[in-house]
Amino acid sequence: MSDTLGDWKRSHFCGHLTRADIGKDVCLMGWVLRRRDHGSLVFVDLRDREGLAQIVFDPDLAKEAHLLAEGVRNEFVLAIRGKVIPRPAGTVNPNMKTGEVEVQVAECKLLNRSKPLPFMLDEFSEVAENIRLKHRYLDLRRPQLQYNLILRHQVAQTTRAYLTENGFIELETPFLTKSTPEGARDFLVPSRINAGCFYALPQSPQIFKQILMISGFDRYFQVVRCFRDEDLRADRQPEFTQIDCEMSFIDRDDIIRVMEGLIARIFKTAKNADVRLPIERMTYAEAIRRFGVDNPDLRFGLELTELTDLVKNAGFKVFAEVCAGGGIVKGLNAKGCAGFSRKEIDDLTEFAKIYGAKGMAYVKIENSQWHSPIAKFFTEAEIAALNQAFDAQEGDLLLFVADKPKVVNDSLGRLRGHLANLLGLLDKNVFRFVWITDFPLLEWDDEDKRWAAVHHPFTAPMDEDVPYVEADPGRCRAKAYDLVLNGSEIGGGSIRIHQQQVQSLMFKLLGLTEEETRLKFGFLLDALDFGTPPHGGIAFGMDRLIMLLTGSDSIRDVIAFPKTQKGTCLMSEAPGPVDEKQLRELSIRLASKPK
Ligand code: AMO
Ligand code: AMP
Repeated sequence: MSDTLGDWKRSHFCGHLTRADIGKDVCLMGWVLRRRDHGSLVFVDLRDREGLAQIVFDPDLAKEAHLLAEGVRNEFVLAIRGKVIPRPAGTVNPNMKTGEVEVQVAECKLLNRSKPLPFMLDEFSEVAENIRLKHRYLDLRRPQLQYNLILRHQVAQTTRAYLTENGFIELETPFLTKSTPEGARDFLVPSRINAGCFYALPQSPQIFKQILMISGFDRYFQVVRCFRDEDLRADRQPEFTQIDCEMSFIDRDDIIRVMEGLIARIFKTAKNADVRLPIERMTYAEAIRRFGVDNPDLRFGLELTELTDLVKNAGFKVFAEVCAGGGIVKGLNAKGCAGFSRKEIDDLTEFAKIYGAKGMAYVKIENSQWHSPIAKFFTEAEIAALNQAFDAQEGDLLLFVADKPKVVNDSLGRLRGHLANLLGLLDKNVFRFVWITDFPLLEWDDEDKRWAAVHHPFTAPMDEDVPYVEADPGRCRAKAYDLVLNGSEIGGGSIRIHQQQVQSLMFKLLGLTEEETRLKFGFLLDALDFGTPPHGGIAFGMDRLIMLLTGSDSIRDVIAFPKTQKGTCLMSEAPGPVDEKQLRELSIRLASKPK
């Protein structure tokens, strides 16, 4: 029995066979998903990229093939020739795409064997993720991961087609480059030829795409890898992919319009879902006020309630003191949660504390009364006013946090999402988009005692705020926008600064000396001096988009070869130590031995 193809040619994918193929002689190639012995007959589910086909080995029709089939195990690789026949009445499988037919085998080749598997490929949830990642080649054979990655391909292709139709040109930018600040740490690559010097892997192509606008390409895009050394979460990877775009001679609304078209096309192609355009917009200030966060999930209510004025003069010292110190008090009405136990409420409080809350007061509305450790500090009138502000009803649970605005908004904003998850309010089949606009330009970094760019240092201030950039940086808003889908930031961009003097001023505001500015961004400032068109752009996080399209909980499920939370690849065992000679060539000496 030969293990090479010889003159055998595949005629069909396993997963494509239908009633229409009945009577045809076919040649299939694929993996054994499972084998069942039914007395003399052997059934094999043969799998390829497109799905499964049931193939039948009958000793009376094909003795040699049957003998071979008795010895096959899971994930052996087979080629078979045979005839497509209808399944006998009563054995049709309506859950299988090819469930109406089977293939009667005439000849079979065993193309390869497999060792016993470290885990079963048809029991998705049982397997620990580290085992799946170590044997990623097997994990990727699972239908779910095949689906995710094929959908990813469709999104990339749709993106290319749409942007090309709209006049965008796909251009590449370097990976071995200088730092582009997007708020994370850089991955550095030592240069052998230039001893002691390092490239930085790009956190994004930001500066290069702007320079391409200066060079007159007018509209650019790239499906591009970005590298950021930051703390990893369920929706973050150290290398991830952006759909990166930049346009010249446009304003914010032009970009938003073109990009909404892209998003609508992607959802139509990948999910056959219609995105209603235009997508709703909300200012950053409104998002923070109503939801506490700049990436609000609009699939459910549970909006935050501003309470400062109602409680600042009440008898509860904690609230009064926070208000007197310039803090605020906000609340969240957990509708229908008055039945939560002490333990459940403590858990919510602990959750809020992750985001800096020092405590969380609560009120249960039961028998039309406030049941709460803090009820005694409030008058009837104050209680009535608070009930009204909360729109409190029988059975509700009111939660309060008093602190600096940032802590109040962060903690209640995150708690809102956490509660929605607990209460089962997150429907993965609903897609709620919102553009967040008018971000602050700068935020005060209390640790470093300096202003930092909220988006990045190349983002232009709003025209009306330009006069205040120097005198009152904190009040300036940016021409920046994020696209948020179901509480996840899937894209962000801005109109850029296109005047050299304004860009220099921005670097100065950010605390860079002239020398540092020259060293890091001299080439951009030089380029800006040679006729820069007004321009702007956006980048979408492609991995996050695919996560939402496929309903995946982890970003690792939409990337072929992802990294763990610790930034390692369990399959290739990267990163790893290198030998002394390599280090010497790079003029590098290690301060400590690798672990
Ligand atoms: P920004 O830093 O907002 O903007 O990135 C754009 C989008 O990329 C995604 N993203 C990530 N996805 C996975 N893992 C990560 N570590 C990660 N970090 C970011 C997010 C985010 O919305 N140059 C600008 C864009 C511009 O101004 O045009 C930029 O990179 O979905
Ligand atoms: P205490 O006076 O510390 O016993 O707190 C009384 C109640 O107020 C408890 O339920 C605390 O969780 C709550 N509490 C304490 N600090 C805050 C705060 N900063 N914001 C909201 N509630 C608080």
